[in-house]
Amino acid sequence: MRALTWHGRHDVRVETVPDPEIVNPHDAILRVTSTAICGSDLHLYDGYIPGMRAGDILGHEFMGEVVETGPLSTLHKGDRVVVPFPIACGDCFFCKKQQFSCCDNTNPAETSDATETMYGYPMSGVFGYSHLTGGYAGGQAEYVRVPFSNVGPIVVPDHLEDDKVLFLSDILPTGWMAAENCEIEPGDTVAVWGCGPVGLFAIQSALIMGAHRVIAIDHYPTRLALAKELGAEILDYREVDVREALAEMTGGIGPDAVIDAVGLEAHGISIDNIADQVKSMAFLVTDRAHAFREAVLSVRKGGRVSVPGVYGGFADKFPVGAFMEKGLTMKTGQTHVQRYLKPLLDLIEQGKVDTTFLISHHAPLEQAADMYKHWHDDQNQFTKIVLKTEIAVPKAEQQEVQHELA
Ligand SMILES: NC(=O)c1ccc[n+]([C@@H]2O[C@H](COP(=O)([O-])OP(=O)(O)OC[C@H]3O[C@@H](n4cnc5c(N)ncnc54)[C@H](O)[C@@H]3O)[C@@H](O)[C@H]2O)c1
Ligand SMILES: [Zn+2]
Ligand SMILES: [Zn+2]
Repeated sequence: MRALTWHGRHDVRVETVPDPEIVNPHDAILRVTSTAICGSDLHLYDGYIPGMRAGDILGHEFMGEVVETGPLSTLHKGDRVVVPFPIACGDCFFCKKQQFSCCDNTNPAETSDATETMYGYPMSGVFGYSHLTGGYAGGQAEYVRVPFSNVGPIVVPDHLEDDKVLFLSDILPTGWMAAENCEIEPGDTVAVWGCGPVGLFAIQSALIMGAHRVIAIDHYPTRLALAKELGAEILDYREVDVREALAEMTGGIGPDAVIDAVGLEAHGISIDNIADQVKSMAFLVTDRAHAFREAVLSVRKGGRVSVPGVYGGFADKFPVGAFMEKGLTMKTGQTHVQRYLKPLLDLIEQGKVDTTFLISHHAPLEQAADMYKHWHDDQNQFTKIVLKTEIAVPKAEQQEVQHELA
């Protein structure tokens, strides 16, 4: 089959690789129909996540049709399913608490040892996300093996096309959990750093959950415009001092809750971010936490900090004094996607959440390497890329895709 494989920093290739096979009784094999490139994939592309090996198949946002099942899978051939990015057993202490991305059973010992050393405890398995999370082949491919197919995937109705349900795999629940972690009360103002797909879905979710105002921060005009269309007030961090502007907009108090939807690759020419860049080159820090710091310093006293943005290792100058003295609460984590699938599918069916507004480009899987480059180099034009596998896209439609890209 054809699949997008990682070979090093800024080197991904579509190659022919062996087809996946059923390995365990709970497995299913999917013929992938749609798969998306995520902001988290950029961290792999930029070489920030350790534990990648040449030839690893990327992709953790995907959906498709079941073509083969193990004896203990609860899926059936022909089912159309969306698959959550964290792999969870459904049965361990954490899964029983619905903390699926903390599952204790899906990251084999030889790989989980590394995360155990780094974090104290091993992480769950994740599709296409390095050998730190189990080394599972991802779904930016024609076929993918889905372990624990009896726990994760949700069967989606045929009348909802791929673009409407694909993002249940990650960014829609991620934006939702980010807003939920803000514990929004009526009248609240929520500030969101980053208007990528995660930030945009967090903005939409916060408004659905009753936030009175949402203030969105980024610098890409296209992404800020999408945030504005959703109903957010917007700040371009190149034009204003974000902390001052937020204080001014909230009567000198600060937002009630803040969301860092940027993560470890914050941009910006602030002194702290330049120091991070220099230190990361010298391997003194791994993560550039500018947005995180700014969020902690901007939020009101007694406010809530929600961090969906991914951090991998160590960051410098965490304002622990502000965090403690202001009496803040922080919630974060890889999303417990399985927890949100059914309620969010219901909202999609009822037309209450829009999942398609942020898609800027469709492209065949064959062009995935080019699409990674665009996603990396031109985030203003490329707000979200959905890849279609060649076998699933009729020739005529593919020509349309090419046309759209030209
Ligand atoms: N927790 C989870 O389960 C989960 C799931 C998916 C993605 N993520 C993470 O969420 C983050 C966002 O994902 P995405 O797909 O939206 O990524 P993205 O790269 O498309 O978007 C990030 C946005 O942040 C903006 N940004 C950078 N520096 C900024 C700053 N200083 N202030 C304000 N905005 C700034 C960028 O301009 C960009 O628009 C990433 O770190 C990703 O890894 C986490
Ligand atoms: Zn993702
Ligand atoms: Zn588990």
